[in-house]
Amino acid sequence: MNARTEFVAPPYVANMQRVDSYADIDEILRSEDFMQGSHRESGVFFNGSLLLIEGHEHMQRRQLFSSLVSRTAMHYYETGALVPVIDKVMQELRDEGRGKDGLVHVDLIPLIRSMLYRITALVTGVDNVDTPQKTERFRDLVDKLGVAVTVEWSTGDHEQVIRDGLEIRRQLIEEFLLPSLERRRGLVSQFKEGKMAKDALPTDLLTMLTLHGDDKRPGDEDYVWRECALFLVASTQTTTHTLPHVIVHLTDWCKSHPEDAPKRTDATFLRIAAMESLRLHQPAPTLLRIALKDVTLASGRKIAKDERVALFFVPANRETAVFGPDAAEFNPYRVAPPRLSPWGLTFGGGVHTCIGRPLVTGMFNRPDDKSGTEGTMIRILRTLYEAGAVMDPTKPPKRVAASYHDAYESFPLVLRSL
Ligand code: HEM
Repeated sequence: MNARTEFVAPPYVANMQRVDSYADIDEILRSEDFMQGSHRESGVFFNGSLLLIEGHEHMQRRQLFSSLVSRTAMHYYETGALVPVIDKVMQELRDEGRGKDGLVHVDLIPLIRSMLYRITALVTGVDNVDTPQKTERFRDLVDKLGVAVTVEWSTGDHEQVIRDGLEIRRQLIEEFLLPSLERRRGLVSQFKEGKMAKDALPTDLLTMLTLHGDDKRPGDEDYVWRECALFLVASTQTTTHTLPHVIVHLTDWCKSHPEDAPKRTDATFLRIAAMESLRLHQPAPTLLRIALKDVTLASGRKIAKDERVALFFVPANRETAVFGPDAAEFNPYRVAPPRLSPWGLTFGGGVHTCIGRPLVTGMFNRPDDKSGTEGTMIRILRTLYEAGAVMDPTKPPKRVAASYHDAYESFPLVLRSL
């Protein structure tokens, strides 16, 4: 019902060499002979951000940002931000009342965004996302920015998408980012004057950048907004794109395996289901890389110096030689081959591997580790299933039409026991 067996290459990559073998992609992502090739068209939003820098500069910045995703930070985001927001959102749904059938109906896409916005604001360091109006406004701006920063995959007029995105970014800076940055500049000054302890400073991106003097780079004052854009979009759009697929797969799975239906409120089962679904669905159609010299991969594939190649994760993550004969199918009981991640290449590989992965899938030493964090995806899924979530039998989900993303723009759910 849901798994795309045929991957449709977006026109943007039509003239690029297509790399779709697991081993080749893995080798390219880990190799020092390649550099980042994504977000050329959308560079105005991301240039100079962690995702698009390389070498020593990238390593230093990654280290600087590591405290944003430390174990302590993860616990704080989950218990201090995600859980209260989820509780609040579910209470609002209860209060809003039921449909004519006596049940609560909701669209999952805006619901996920509502649940994630506070973590996003905390990680980035955005203040005043507190009243319902401001929250709604922040969500709307971040959503629209998300469309512009992935203009490469847009089915619309790309120049117009960029123009609209720049205007959205201007509003986001004026209403949220600049006031938040100014507050942090004040706090950092107090710290530097010895009037405040370092651990009293917030742990967020804007504070890190201000401490490091990166809030105002001579000759490139917009850098700080491009780093913010990366974190704002990377922490929301990816989960919004990938989470609904888990529900589609679990719906199908439980039809043929009804004995597993009660496990949908079990965090360990949901974690393995989410990882398996992430293997089958990636948040971006492809990642791009550029060869820094003539390269021959271990497989014999040749890539010329300066050539930009498109890495197609969909076929790679469904390779039968890697994940078994039923690799294209969803199977929560699949055992990933030794040394391979259960999500395959979905969080990338090499130096640019996703920094936010533990936030999404949880921090744990074993799948049933109770001292770790549950992860945003698992926590949201568990809340929905505890509320009796089923796909609305009268309203099928709608795929995103404005881009080549493997994602939904609308996903009606019924919460039968809320
Ligand atoms: C389902 C959720 C997510 C998926 C599938 C995902 C996937 C990815 C992938 C594939 C990359 C590598 C891109 C490349 O190499 O070109 C990446 C990088 C990144 N992700 Fe995620 N991501 C997710 C969630 C998040 C979250 C929640 C955050 C928030 C902190 C985040 C922040 C980042 C950042 C900052 C980078 C750049 C890292 C670097 O270049 O060193 N991501 N992500």
